[in-house]
Amino acid sequence: MKTKIIVTGGCGYIGSHTAIELIKNDFDVIILDDLSNSTEKTISRIHKITGVTPTFVKIDLKDPLATSTVFKMHNDAAGVIHFAAHKAVGESVQKPLMYYKNNFYSLLNTLESQSEHGINNFIFSSSATVYGTPNTLPITEDNETQRPFSPYGNTKKIAEEILTDFTKSNDAFSAISLRYFNPIGAHPSGEIGELPNGIPNNLMPYITQTAVGLRDKLMVYGNDYLTKDGTPIRDYIHVVDLAKAHVKAINRLIDHKQQQPLETYNLGTGNGFSVMEVIESFERVSGLKLNYEIVGRREGDVPQLFAATDLAYQKMGWKAELGLDEMIDSAWCWEQKHRKHNTSK
Ligand code: UFG
Repeated sequence: MKTKIIVTGGCGYIGSHTAIELIKNDFDVIILDDLSNSTEKTISRIHKITGVTPTFVKIDLKDPLATSTVFKMHNDAAGVIHFAAHKAVGESVQKPLMYYKNNFYSLLNTLESQSEHGINNFIFSSSATVYGTPNTLPITEDNETQRPFSPYGNTKKIAEEILTDFTKSNDAFSAISLRYFNPIGAHPSGEIGELPNGIPNNLMPYITQTAVGLRDKLMVYGNDYLTKDGTPIRDYIHVVDLAKAHVKAINRLIDHKQQQPLETYNLGTGNGFSVMEVIESFERVSGLKLNYEIVGRREGDVPQLFAATDLAYQKMGWKAELGLDEMIDSAWCWEQKHRKHNTSK
């Protein structure tokens, strides 16, 4: 019998890459998704890549009864990896209640239902945004968290606090929170990748959409930061490396290797690259010139953020393996292949 794992938000960008890595590691994957920012076509794409069709349940995790029913049906699962959440920073500033409602109702219903049905391992999809503007770099997990700029970011910070309280109150329950830095790139097959709704907020999809002609030009938000070339520095991480970390994390809980009821890990490469370096890498791997313009700073952007990655390596044996050019090459392949074969999602 294969070990069963429930992946909420498994049709989304990071969720789908994680589902593939779980299947490759012989897990039985159950995907729960409301398809609000993803497509059911992901299921057949996962089949194309792995030869396996994961079980798919279309469900709104804000609905407590529906959530409890689905967890009851899969009460033999060994754990839950929870991706289901809204994630657009700008939209969350416009619609904070929608973000708090969606991200917390889904989280709380999942925690309540899974523990009610004896599924006591939980991996949470968190973000480096919980560090706010760091005073020291690279940033280690023991740095104090700060209230993030956006309601989206705040849902991640508060969710970690909920997990702290819940794991304390329930001896049987264990959780790992994974703080992502800047996930980019796509599966090497070109079958799945990042597909933001509407105009992208994030740098990488904006670059590739500009290069295919969907956007006129990239706006570079500020070149007057105190960094090597004046543009902000981030720790970009390949989504496939990130997905692999989730397999390590769930195995750690299944094997009872966790040393604390809630453990927290940074997921980054430890290397910071500026916006201009990302553009240069894109031009190098694509052979194209990118149309861009330097404009004013974007509200809420921190000048520099990159991870200390030792803890994830020491405790989970995980480290990122793919470099910036590989990340960008895969994102570019995905964008071109996707645009060629799909007029819609
Ligand atoms: N940028 C541009 N132009 C764009 C988009 C982005 O110049 O059109 C710049 C930003 O100013 C920033 C860098 O590219 O300096 C990266 O921006 P992203 O929007 O891609 O990523 P962020 O670092 O702002 O945000 C990411 C995730 C969030 C998460 C945050 C944690 O998208 O979900 O990291 O630090 F909260």
